[in-house]
Amino acid sequence: MSGNLDICVATMTGTALMVAEDIADFCRDNDVIANIIEMENLTVENFIELKGPILITSSTYGQGDVPDNGQDFYKKLEEISPNLSHIKFTVFGLGDMTYRDTFAYGGKKFFQLLSDLKAELIGAPYYHDASDGSLPEEEAVNWFKENIINLL
Ligand SMILES: Cc1cc2nc3c(=O)[nH]c(=O)nc-3n(C[C@H](O)[C@H](O)[C@H](O)COP(=O)(O)O)c2cc1C
Repeated sequence: MSGNLDICVATMTGTALMVAEDIADFCRDNDVIANIIEMENLTVENFIELKGPILITSSTYGQGDVPDNGQDFYKKLEEISPNLSHIKFTVFGLGDMTYRDTFAYGGKKFFQLLSDLKAELIGAPYYHDASDGSLPEEEAVNWFKENIINLL
């Protein structure tokens, strides 16, 4: 297998970045070149030009908000509303069911926005619940291995 993957990360305390790094390591072991982009460094112009399929890893803060480092990108993407029909994507969202009414809304907001902009989903998103004590990076790599890597 060979291919590329761009992983765009929105995180507050680094867990979503750790998830991205573990998925990138798994990719490297399977001949996929993975490139991690932290969202504070991502413009809408750059995003539109990304070549690979895209994985968004995003946690959730505040009251169901996208983390701070993803706020500008999210708002600009919503404002500019480009057609993303050339982009293939999926989402790994991080959340906590203790926040029942806004569970994993950060990742869910990205999923909804990209879907509205006509990006093509390449595999069902996964939303990790931190309240069950499972490790997000382990669940992420398993999900990616079972469901996503073969679709790249
Ligand atoms: C102040 C605060 C607010 C949070 N709000 C939500 C929320 O509304 N919904 C949710 O599902 N998780 C919420 N979480 C849980 C985080 O999204 C979760 O712990 C995640 O794994 C953190 O990932 P990060 O280190 O990448 O930011 C919140 C956590 C904190 C500390």
